[in-house]
Amino acid sequence: MKGTAYPHLQDRQEKPVSLSDLARMKAEGEKIACLTAYDASFAALEDRAGVDVVLVGDSLGMVIQGADTTVPVSVDAMVYHSRAVAAGLYRPFLIADLPFLSYATKHQALDTSRRLMQEGAAQMVKFEGGEIQAEVVEHLSARGVPVCGHIGLQPQLIHKMGAFRVQGRESAAAEAMIRDARILEEAGADMLLLECVPSTLGAEIAANADVPVIGIGAGPDVDGQILVVYDILNISPGRKPRFVKDFMAEAEDVEGAVRAFVRAVRDGSYPGPEHGFK
Ligand code: KIV
Repeated sequence: MKGTAYPHLQDRQEKPVSLSDLARMKAEGEKIACLTAYDASFAALEDRAGVDVVLVGDSLGMVIQGADTTVPVSVDAMVYHSRAVAAGLYRPFLIADLPFLSYATKHQALDTSRRLMQEGAAQMVKFEGGEIQAEVVEHLSARGVPVCGHIGLQPQLIHKMGAFRVQGRESAAAEAMIRDARILEEAGADMLLLECVPSTLGAEIAANADVPVIGIGAGPDVDGQILVVYDILNISPGRKPRFVKDFMAEAEDVEGAVRAFVRAVRDGSYPGPEHGFK
């Protein structure tokens, strides 16, 4: 259940965002503004600022728990934060990540999704991986679990890959990613998330998909943009990825920065060429 504790949750007339609203936004070329959140206060602020989709990302391992990677994040932690975020939301659609190795089999994926949806109040689950996850997607989708496939850079594979780098620059890798996107969609994925890919590849995948394609470092020609909320507020430590824009720099307060992000996604001024990859 989304919450009722915050004043902005009372007496709202508009409809909460649903999957069909997101599909309509794609069809009409209306950009979808998405941000991560990890607690009820930020969730409420993002709701007031007009964010369409809120993701409880397993990035919480890094930005909340202070780990180096997303690998140590547990299902319990995802459920806890998803439930907290849900308590602050009315309008945005809520997605929660399936953490590392919590969807290694279709049965495990269903059990983790059940926890995120029933205990964490998520409306969709997101997992990393392409063709290899097709069976999991079919299994979840056939049982009424909305799913988002995260392809391109997959942070849960950090120990396999050794470093985070742009994906799909070589033509064979680009072809494989286009194929992954198609297979996930055919298996029943309701949304795709593309991380750190050349802008031209982002555009091609979004143009060929019937479901919304949300980008993070995937250029301007996808159906929506997502960033980690602490990155746009310039409070994440360390070097920022190229695709991050500091919206706090010109804002009066945190809510103003989130509103500026939503406006910039909607009017297409974010991401600019300086945020994309070739
Ligand atoms: O975990 C996360 O926050 C994510 C976004 C960066 C897309 O997957």
